[in-house]
Amino acid sequence: MSKKVSLTRYLVEQQRVDGLIPSQLRLLLEVVARACKSISQAVNKGALGGVLGSAESENVQGEMQKKLDIIANEVLIEANEWGGHLAAMASEEMDSIYVVPNRYPQGEYLLLFDPLDGSSNIDVNVSIGTIFSVLKKPSESHGITETDFLQAGAKQVAAGYCVYGPQTTLVLTVGDGVAMFTLDREQGTFVLTQENVKIPADTKEFAINMSNMRHWDAPVKRYIDECLQGKEGPRGKDFNMRWVASMVADVHRILTRGGIFMYPWDKREPNKPGKLRLMYEANPMSWLVEQAGGAATNGKERILDVQPAKLHERISVILGSKNEVDRVTSYHREASPNDA
Ligand code: AHG
Ligand code: MN
Ligand code: MN
Repeated sequence: MSKKVSLTRYLVEQQRVDGLIPSQLRLLLEVVARACKSISQAVNKGALGGVLGSAESENVQGEMQKKLDIIANEVLIEANEWGGHLAAMASEEMDSIYVVPNRYPQGEYLLLFDPLDGSSNIDVNVSIGTIFSVLKKPSESHGITETDFLQAGAKQVAAGYCVYGPQTTLVLTVGDGVAMFTLDREQGTFVLTQENVKIPADTKEFAINMSNMRHWDAPVKRYIDECLQGKEGPRGKDFNMRWVASMVADVHRILTRGGIFMYPWDKREPNKPGKLRLMYEANPMSWLVEQAGGAATNGKERILDVQPAKLHERISVILGSKNEVDRVTSYHREASPNDA
């Protein structure tokens, strides 16, 4: 790339040339990127900034919160509430939605986020991130309620994540492919480092928490078992395994070199459809993956077509290289053809 293209310039050009980004949405994405820069700073300071360790509180999902979960949540709210681009926000770390206070103008967008993904990796200095999804407020809506957020992932107008790893990288889609921006710390700007990201349709790499194997359903067991048989098995090739335990980092690897990621339903809590949350984890990641030519299902249907029934709804997630995702989905269909 001969000329450095900043995130600001990229967004302005998308707005001007393709008309894809109305000005309020452009402001929103710039503000989210700015918030990610602050979170990245806090992550980098680690123990020196006093940001490691537990907050000694629980979120609505019954998970212990880390200090950084709460810090990242506050950074995102404070950055976004006053700009006039949002009507309300929702987060993994808040029981209910956060409506923009009356003292600020209200915009037409809804922002959902997982402020800090991969919390179990914070204290051990492994990559973590922020995931976000943007929806439009339904036009008939006046007073914003949770119901306004309950839109299928296919209705997203922007989605992305920022991974805080050896580099801080912001990955974004507004429905015109996937672009990656690397944080230039000296300049304080995100610089475009890859456009038209594409996931190869085939892969030899899978990501799943193997310690849950005994709890999986038959189709997932069958798929992994076939991968593990390698060259001698029905797949006729050896597979490699990776599991970072931060969805952002696992998805980032898949967008970079392909692969399949699964966090499937399992028998431990049969009433829960999965571990990951539909609206601020599965939906934005599924849209990014589809925009890069990959696929994302819950084993039965396309994740982006699932109509959410509640804000913190969970879902089984299978995403990544298209041919592998199609294979796992077909194993589910063969196991329960009536659901197909
Ligand atoms: P979060 O930290 O936002 O709660 O999300 C953690 C998720 C996801 O990032 C990751 O893929 C998965 O949990 C890891 O789960 P295991 O600890 O079961 O491996
Ligand atoms: Mn998460
Ligand atoms: Mn989280």
